[in-house]
Amino acid sequence: VPVNAQGAEGFRTLGELEETAGRRCSPAVWGYIQGGAGEERTVQRNRDAFGRWALRPRVLAGLSEIDLSTRMLRDAVSVPFYLAPTAYQGMVHPDGERGTARAASAARVLSMVSTLTSDSLEQIAAASPGGPRWFQLYLQPEFSVTQRLIERAERAGYTALVVTADAPLLAVRDRQRRSGFALDDAIPLGNGPDVRPPARELASKGGGKFAVREEATVGWEILDQLRRVTKLPLVVKGILSAEDARLAVSHGAQAVIVSNHGGRQLDGAAAPLDVLPEVVAAVGTSAEVYLDGGIRRANDVLTALALGARAVGLGRPVLWALAVDGSTGVARLLDLLTIELASVMLFTGRGSISQVDRSLVQPVTP
Ligand SMILES: Cc1cc2nc3c(=O)[nH]c(=O)nc-3n(C[C@H](O)[C@H](O)[C@H](O)COP(=O)(O)O)c2cc1C
Repeated sequence: VPVNAQGAEGFRTLGELEETAGRRCSPAVWGYIQGGAGEERTVQRNRDAFGRWALRPRVLAGLSEIDLSTRMLRDAVSVPFYLAPTAYQGMVHPDGERGTARAASAARVLSMVSTLTSDSLEQIAAASPGGPRWFQLYLQPEFSVTQRLIERAERAGYTALVVTADAPLLAVRDRQRRSGFALDDAIPLGNGPDVRPPARELASKGGGKFAVREEATVGWEILDQLRRVTKLPLVVKGILSAEDARLAVSHGAQAVIVSNHGGRQLDGAAAPLDVLPEVVAAVGTSAEVYLDGGIRRANDVLTALALGARAVGLGRPVLWALAVDGSTGVARLLDLLTIELASVMLFTGRGSISQVDRSLVQPVTP
C-alpha cells in the first residue's frame, strides 16, 4: 500500500474507507458498527436498491459553475448530504462526537447529533458553534427526562428536533451478538446517567404476552405533546410508508426521514430508496423528505435526490472515517464526497441542486 498524505493507514478513496476502518476497529466495535438486524437482508437491500438505477449523463450543458448548496428546513447547508445520528462515537475514536461535529461544521454540513453520545450535547455544540446541528431524540421512559433533554438542546443552539420513531426496542442483531458486543446501560453516556438507550428486550409476562417499556407505548399524539414543549421544528426519522408519512405530517412534522435505521431494526423491511417515491407522493408538497441508508458515493446521493429526497444522511461511512483518522478523517470523507458530487453534477448537466429532477435517473436491470 503506497504511503499517502494521511499515512499508510489512511484512505485515499471513498472505496477503500470501509476496509481500512475494519482493520482499525476491535472486532466488538466493528460488529456494533456494521451489524444489522437478524441476518442483514435489509442491510444488503439498502445497497442493492441503488443498483437498479442508472444516471443519465447530459453533455454540452454549458455550465460554468456547480453550486451544491441547499437548505434543510431553516438551515443553509453547503451540500445536500448530512451526518445521520450515530451513537457512542467515543468508542470509535477519542475525538468522539466533538471531532465529528467540528469537521462537519467547518464544511457547513449538517450534523444530526444522537441522544446517546459519548460527549454531552453541550460539549458537541461548543465544538461546532456555528452548526448547523439538529438534535436526535430518543424518547425517555420518563417524559420529564425527555423534556429536560429538549430544553438543553434548545439552549445549546440545536435548530431542529429529530424524533427517531423506529426504535421502540433494539432489534436482535446477529452479527453484534456474535462479536460479543452488548449495548448495556453500563456504557457511559455524555448526556448523563438518567438518559437511557431503547430497551434491549420485551419483558415477558408469560403466556405469550410481552410488556412494552413506557416510552414506547406512545402513539402519534406524542408529536403534539412534543410541540407543546418546544418551538423547534419536528422531524420524524424512521418512516417507511406513505401512511406513516401522512400521519407524521398531520401531527405537525415539518420533515420526515425515510430510513430503516441502516437495516438495524426490522430485518426484511424495504430499502429506503424503494419507498422514497411513495413518501414523496404522499407528503412531498407539505414537508421536506430526507433519506438515509446505503449512501456511499456521490451517485447514490444524486439518485436519491432525483427520486425526490431533499438531502440524504450518512451513517456508517462517518464512523469509518472517524475510526481511521478521527476528526481529520471525517473532514476528508466530506471533502471527497463533495468533490465527487460536484463532478457528477457536471457529468449530468446540473449546475445546481434545484436542477436535479427525475429525468436524471433511469431504471436498469442490475
Ligand atoms: C453504529 C450506529 C449507531 C446508530 N445510532 C443511532 C442513533 O443513536 N440514533 C438514530 O436515530 N439512528 C442511529 N443509527 C442509524 C443512522 O442514523 C442511520 O439511519 C443509518 O446508519 C443509515 O444507514 P447507513 O449506515 O447505511 O448510512 C445508527 C447507525 C449505526 C450504524
